[in-house]
Amino acid sequence: MRVAITRPVPVLAHEILRASIPNVVLEGPEIRPGIDALLCTLQDPVDRALLESLSPTLQIVANFAVGLDNIDLDAARELGVRVTNTPGVLTEATAETAIGLILCCARRFHEGDQIMRSGAFSGWEPLFHLGQSVYGSTLGIIGAGRIGRCVGETMERGFGCRVLYHRPMDLDELLAESDFVSLHCPLTEQTHHMIDERRLALMKPTAILINTARGPIVDETALVRALKNGGIAGAGLDVYEAEPAMAPGLAELDNVHLLPHIGSATVATRNAMARMAADSIVETLTRGSAREG
Ligand code: DGY
Repeated sequence: MRVAITRPVPVLAHEILRASIPNVVLEGPEIRPGIDALLCTLQDPVDRALLESLSPTLQIVANFAVGLDNIDLDAARELGVRVTNTPGVLTEATAETAIGLILCCARRFHEGDQIMRSGAFSGWEPLFHLGQSVYGSTLGIIGAGRIGRCVGETMERGFGCRVLYHRPMDLDELLAESDFVSLHCPLTEQTHHMIDERRLALMKPTAILINTARGPIVDETALVRALKNGGIAGAGLDVYEAEPAMAPGLAELDNVHLLPHIGSATVATRNAMARMAADSIVETLTRGSAREG
């Protein structure tokens, strides 16, 4: 059996595959015809053309991510290729990242760090570097799956937030009422540019937008405009529309806190994702009973 692994992943994945599939050959980063399984990441577009070129032998695509927007799921289904992802194991790590961004943006920690490093701090002042309170604020969650619920429940329990969830609540109302809006929905045709110019304009001028889901859910150019002209107060982003690039002007803004797509980046979480991806390949290649993605 041949398994292509497109990028360096925790060694645990290699160990599981080697220990469980007799005579397995692990290859990559190139994806060559004749492979039985593909272990890929959200950085690897798995489109119809690629799937068709691999389908004579390919049995499974194991995506090292919970999001599946890089994979043509219809084509995979038609070609009988199983697709699996890594749900559940990155919920808390990603929720931590969203909550960290809420706190950083509300209290302007990133700007404070710059002030200290540049030597601009001249001593405590009652009116210096004021931010917003998180305790008791209203948090709107768009995408009430595992991660969205974890963020909402943690903020409700820990920070006394009033949490609004899109569905059942109307999206426009949620945007108008929230102090913080955190995105946790998958990227689909329906959610592409869900947060556009019109919806940004519905948000409070004091509101902060957090995105740890997928960049294209937000019209990043419209976001830059809203951040520049005071349409909203700030944003905390872990994902970008044309990742790894950013929209022109975003990096120059002080009222945005930027992270390099590290939502699930803890050692324990990445090991758990590696285990899950490798297990699904083992299940498929040895017993043909993997979970459907
Ligand atoms: C995912 O899994 O979809 C994240 O974006 C990467 O952890």
